[in-house]
Formats: sequence, C-alpha cells, structure tokens
Amino acid sequence: MPFPKRKIPVSTLTIALAKGRILDEALPLFAQAGIVPAENPETSRKLILPTSRPGVSFVVVRPTDVPTYVQYGAADAGVAGKDVLLEHGGEGLYQPLDLGIGRCRLVVATMRSYDWAGTVQRGARIRVATKYVRTAREHFAAKGMHVDLIKLYGSMELAPLAGLADAIVDLVSTGNTLKANDLVAVEDIMPITSRLVVHPGALKLKRAAMQPLIDALAGAVHAGQAA
Ligand code: PRP
Repeated sequence: MPFPKRKIPVSTLTIALAKGRILDEALPLFAQAGIVPAENPETSRKLILPTSRPGVSFVVVRPTDVPTYVQYGAADAGVAGKDVLLEHGGEGLYQPLDLGIGRCRLVVATMRSYDWAGTVQRGARIRVATKYVRTAREHFAAKGMHVDLIKLYGSMELAPLAGLADAIVDLVSTGNTLKANDLVAVEDIMPITSRLVVHPGALKLKRAAMQPLIDALAGAVHAGQAA
C-alpha cells in the first residue's frame, strides 16, 4: 500500500512575544507587516493567539524564555531584548534585525552616597546584585574588578537599599526608578534594543513565509526611523 502523502504546513509561522514594554512597541511593527493578533496579548489569558494573517500565530512567553522557544524551534521567530539575548548566549539563533524598540541602557548603579570611584581605585571586592549575571561577570572581568554576583529576578534597585549588595547591574530607561530610590548610574555597560530572532531551520525550511516577514519588519523599522 503506498504511503499517504503528508501535507507539510511549511507556511505556518509561530512568533514568540513577551508581555510588557517591548510588546507595546512590537505590535505596531507587526501591524505594519500585516500581522495583527486576534486578541490583545497584554490582556488575553490565551497563550497562543491567531493573527489576521492565516497560518501566523503569536505565542506569549516570559521575556527570558523567548530565545529558548526559538532556539528549540518551538517558535520560528521571536522578539527579545539584547539584554536577554546576551544572558541566553544566542546559541542556535539567527538575529537578522535590530527592531530599534525597547531602547534603554544597561548600567552599574549604586546608592548616591556610595563612593564608587574610591572602591574601583582601591580594587576592593564588592557585591553586585543582578538579573544579568553573565553580562555583569564579563563586564567586571574586563575591568579586572573582583565581584561577588548575587542573582536576582527583579526589583534589583532594592538590593543596595536593603544592604544586600553594594551595586546593581540593571536596565535604565527613564531613570525614574533609580531616582525614586536614591540610586545613581555609575557606569554605562551598553545600549540595549530588541531584536528579531529566528530559528535557522525555520529560515531555511519556511523561507517563503519567513523572508517576507523579515523584509516587512525591516521596512516598518526604517519607516519609523525616517519619520
Ligand atoms: C526595568 C528595570 C528597572 C526599570 C527601569 O524593570 O529593571 O527596574 O525598568 O525603568 P526606568 O528607568 O524607566 O524607571 P521592569 O519594569 O522591566 O521590571 P523588572 O523589575 O521585572 O525587571
């Protein structure tokens, strides 16, 4: 008996997005690329959302899980901050496009009263609390500074106030959170934006659907930059 022919749905695309600030800026770019979710991912309890484009769906995950979903091919593409990608390592991810959204800075911050310059000059060992352990380790190693890193999952600004750490490595956007907690940025580590990440296999096997999406998003990004 001949094998039944299997229809492989090569034109279906799954895109991983995370709730929060990046989503607010990412949705208008996808809308310009003709992809609008059936429900607002920010408020919907559904984790898989169909879109206006047949065969294209969004999956809603935690920001730090976006690279993981794409790396393993559970999502064909996703939107992730450079901060998250550096911590993940970027293995198994193609990063074709800087979307220019989620713009902020990764910094070292301390209490306003802390003598950072003196500490650096003395070469004193310090404690640094952060979500970004890998990036922080590389930053301080490059400076030859000895640090004990404490992994946190949020509200890093509390650590110096509560006496948990001398400094933090965290994202700064408006600077309001630092200011409200009497902290100051003492070192800039790098500017951060969000990137489109793509599973290399998906780019190869689903190029007919993926390449137009990348091109449309690139067009939306450039149109935004030119405006
Ligand atoms: C980020 C970051 C700071 C804050 C900075 O936190 O960790 O806490 O935003 O923004 P600002 O400079 O505009 O005040 P986020 O809201 O992403 O939550 P998190 O604490 O879970 O990281």
